[in-house]
Amino acid sequence: MIKFPGPITVSVLLTGLLTFSEFAAATPSADTGVLAQQLEQEFKGAYSERLDPVGKVRSFELTAAPAEWGVVPPYRTAVWAYNGTVPGPVLRIKLGETLKVKLTNNLAQSTTMHWHGIRVPNAMDGVPGVTQPPIKPGGSFTYQFTPKDAGTFWFHPHLNSPEQIERGLHGALIVEDSKEPRYSQDLVWVMDDWLFENGASIYGQFVTGHDLAHDGRWGNVVTVNGKYLPSIPVKAGERLRIRLINAANGRVFSPAFDGLSPKVIAVDGMPAGAPFPLSQFNLAPGNRLDLDLVIPKEAAGKLLVVSNRFGRSQQTLAFLDVATKTVVKTPTFEPPKAAHFPAWTEALAAPVAHEFILNAERGGPYGISWTIDGKIGHENVAATLPYGKFSRLRYTNKSGRLHPMHLHGQFFKLLAVDGEPAQENFWRDTLLVGPKQSVDVGLVPLDKGLWANHCHILEHAEAGMMSTFKVE
Ligand code: C2O
Ligand code: CU
Repeated sequence: MIKFPGPITVSVLLTGLLTFSEFAAATPSADTGVLAQQLEQEFKGAYSERLDPVGKVRSFELTAAPAEWGVVPPYRTAVWAYNGTVPGPVLRIKLGETLKVKLTNNLAQSTTMHWHGIRVPNAMDGVPGVTQPPIKPGGSFTYQFTPKDAGTFWFHPHLNSPEQIERGLHGALIVEDSKEPRYSQDLVWVMDDWLFENGASIYGQFVTGHDLAHDGRWGNVVTVNGKYLPSIPVKAGERLRIRLINAANGRVFSPAFDGLSPKVIAVDGMPAGAPFPLSQFNLAPGNRLDLDLVIPKEAAGKLLVVSNRFGRSQQTLAFLDVATKTVVKTPTFEPPKAAHFPAWTEALAAPVAHEFILNAERGGPYGISWTIDGKIGHENVAATLPYGKFSRLRYTNKSGRLHPMHLHGQFFKLLAVDGEPAQENFWRDTLLVGPKQSVDVGLVPLDKGLWANHCHILEHAEAGMMSTFKVE
């Protein structure tokens, strides 16, 4: 017969459990060393530390400049665009190839390019004042690197981003792996929203008090590939790979497909440990999802693709326009998945290397400052993480707003939400931290340098919610 201890003993017991991680952090023991080794061992083979270039250089030229774009016909919207289109051209290369992009700045202000999610050499990361100087008007900069991972990535400026990205500067970078199966169509959907006034003119006040007091700038028109309510032609029987990218300043999308059941095969560019059904996935700014979707043979007409979130009103994103005259044979193959994904079931016993405190304060250049550990901006080197070793990080949101936290140059796994173990069978580079929520993540940094760590609600980042961490 088990005897339950009295209330006092219970509280002592609980206190002991809750403080275990701090205890472990304060007194490194043989046990934490063994645990760390075990976690690093589990990580091995998840993704490669280096990738040897095959020797083929793929060169592109991008020019950032003012342009006109038809988001909502018949209006012409004055935008800022790469090579005249919003989003910019899709850059597609094969794994092993070297990407070379000459970026010319024909804007009236400085810019840079960040390659979101790509494990680049630090000097190619595009963070002004950290990894490179700003590219001045009329100037240019050539980025060159060999992506180490195949998948769905994107690029955008890292300077005055609430305005530059909102006005249309962003695009997709797709790294293909020739070993992956061939879908009937491989589609890239860059999702965005726009805050329009007077027809379709971009509202010209940026980083407003309203944006800062809320979850950034949410627009009144949502688009896929720069178009309002596009019809995307598909055929009955087709098996589609749809690569969703959230390029909005602040909006969280939660996509759903009318009566269809897509599977998620990759998150933030990296194949999941196993495919899983798409349902209520919060696609925060910066996040990507790769979907595997079969258009049923009996499908007909226009299928709706919608998005909603937290009970906010539903928005129609696009239509799948199903041609039924030609029914194609559905390709059969196992969807791609990660070769190896660590379970890290013991990871919550590892010490917390750093707890980032997310909060707001009055003051600063915008009247409201969003802070990390009470500080603003990338001058705050918030943490140093050991190269090749397991680190557990905690983000604690003291505020009532959303913060999709993005780590440059690394992938991490969600370990816990509010202290409760959480199971996600995939890597992320951006994680939505909810109001008053605390999340723990684990990672093994494989790229040295000074990397940005910031909220991907662009207005929050601009008003301070930006820091760096060092990997050495
Ligand atoms: Cu897509 Cu530092 O961001
Ligand atoms: Cu934020």
